[in-house]
Amino acid sequence: MNRSVFAPGRVNLIGDHTDYAGGLALPIAIQLGTFITFDPNERSETVLFHSDTQAQKAEVQIEIGKSQVHLVEPGWARFVAAAVALSNGVVGGSGSVRSNLPIGSGLSSSASFAIALTMALGIDTEDLVGFAQEVEHLATGVPCGKLDQMAIVNGKKQFGVQIDFRDLSYRYVEIPDEIDIFIVESGETRQLEYSNYSNRRESALKAISILGDLRKVSLDEVEKLGDIDLINCCTHIISENKRVVLFGDALSKKDFQKAGRLLSESHWSLSHLYNVSTPILDNLVERATSINGVLGARVTGAGFGGSVVVLSEPGLDLQQFLTERVIKVVPSNGANLVV
Ligand code: GLA
Repeated sequence: MNRSVFAPGRVNLIGDHTDYAGGLALPIAIQLGTFITFDPNERSETVLFHSDTQAQKAEVQIEIGKSQVHLVEPGWARFVAAAVALSNGVVGGSGSVRSNLPIGSGLSSSASFAIALTMALGIDTEDLVGFAQEVEHLATGVPCGKLDQMAIVNGKKQFGVQIDFRDLSYRYVEIPDEIDIFIVESGETRQLEYSNYSNRRESALKAISILGDLRKVSLDEVEKLGDIDLINCCTHIISENKRVVLFGDALSKKDFQKAGRLLSESHWSLSHLYNVSTPILDNLVERATSINGVLGARVTGAGFGGSVVVLSEPGLDLQQFLTERVIKVVPSNGANLVV
């Protein structure tokens, strides 16, 4: 039987580069995402997909092994290959992929694709989040955490998902109607993402191996590390975890000025301490935060380009003030089978 799936993208409101460090984050799933339809055919030896955003089709043998995934062409077909290779066997067939998520913009188009694929292929897994993360690792080589998958699977209309990455527990935080959330695409592509993401993650893991669980470490103790890069790295993670909690509280108390300030502080920290911003992103955040009615702004996701998330008072026509593409996003439900 034909299977149709919609998996949203996500916007991380606050808590970046904390997931792989056992920290906290507060993302939303958004109304844009990936639609996949798949028609299984017992007699087919391959899985074949056409995409409305890619010129070449993806065709993968159902017997493909993990070690062959990196050889698959075109690049987007590696996601299909990784999902098939990591599964305990899938039925062949054909299908189509449609997406209205801007690619490489920090809105998790990859995780959205991996989750939609896993569900559309009918892969039986008790851990959809972990499986989709492995698909992405195998397909791209980027050692991403579980932020994107957790938001995409557990998203809820009108709510943010406050995630604790120590145990993947989460709670819903209502996003009040009195604020609007926008994404502004910087237009900067993320070519450095692969090398710098891994490098940032390695610094964080090195610091954790010395200090232990950063949730139990104070900012004073961080000085012990001696190395300025590691000190800055931990200072960002420890303060960002605190901001996630304060941001959730500020939303609950409807203290929107404070919520906005926390976003801007997060950007400063990602830019100056964690080094994942760029001059273009810094400039965009500065321009956005100077607009009347804007409460705060920050880079969202991995950084190195991509998008800025902006929190504003309701009814602001943000596009009127910026030349970059602006998209208003709303907290939406997580991935689901449409049929
Ligand atoms: C990317 C990764 C996530 C997370 C963010 C930064 O989106 O896929 O796991 O690490 O960067 O917060």
